[in-house]
Amino acid sequence: MAKKSTRNAAFTVPGLTTEQGHAVADILQQRLHALNDLQLTLKHAHWNVVGPNFIAVHEMLDPQIDEVRGYVDELAERMATMGVSPSGLPGAIVAERTWDDYSVHRAPGVEHLAALDLVYDGVISDHREALARVSDVDPITEDMLIGQVRGLELFQWFMRSHIESGSGVLEHAGARTEKGAAKAVKSSPKATKSSGRTATSPAKASRKK
Ligand SMILES: [Fe+2]
Repeated sequence: MAKKSTRNAAFTVPGLTTEQGHAVADILQQRLHALNDLQLTLKHAHWNVVGPNFIAVHEMLDPQIDEVRGYVDELAERMATMGVSPSGLPGAIVAERTWDDYSVHRAPGVEHLAALDLVYDGVISDHREALARVSDVDPITEDMLIGQVRGLELFQWFMRSHIESGSGVLEHAGARTEKGAAKAVKSSPKATKSSGRTATSPAKASRKK
């Protein structure tokens, strides 16, 4: 009789119990979905950006997409190393993700950057949460996630620098949706000018289903 298919192997990395290793890998599955979604979303913005900043934003996004694709591979291979089969299938991403599709299509560079800033808030916050959850059990996985957060935060700064005022204010601060963030910078031709609002972090719940 054929063996029943299972996503979990009978092993994990040395030094952890099988249950511990598989539990860590299970946490990584949602991060894999998030990064797969992110690299597609960044490509979507790369194709849909218009306006005077077209070439700056269009070309700025591609190296980050390459980097995020590297994170995807690293995460998936860590899961497999720990004995859990990674799922990179589109249907699984859509079925298991907790956020909606990116909502901005053809739009000027600053509008995409404001919307993507919210996307990064969500991905980075959830990555930090995941690394805190695995830190006691598996410092190797924690180390991988720390490296990825470092890269994601650096790129978020690249994007924010285009829409930040000289006094350090983000024009879309407080926006709760991607469209709201895009509209906030759209209504201000000087995305670099202070609006007098405080620069609080937009809610990551903006992309939640
Ligand atoms: Fe391209």
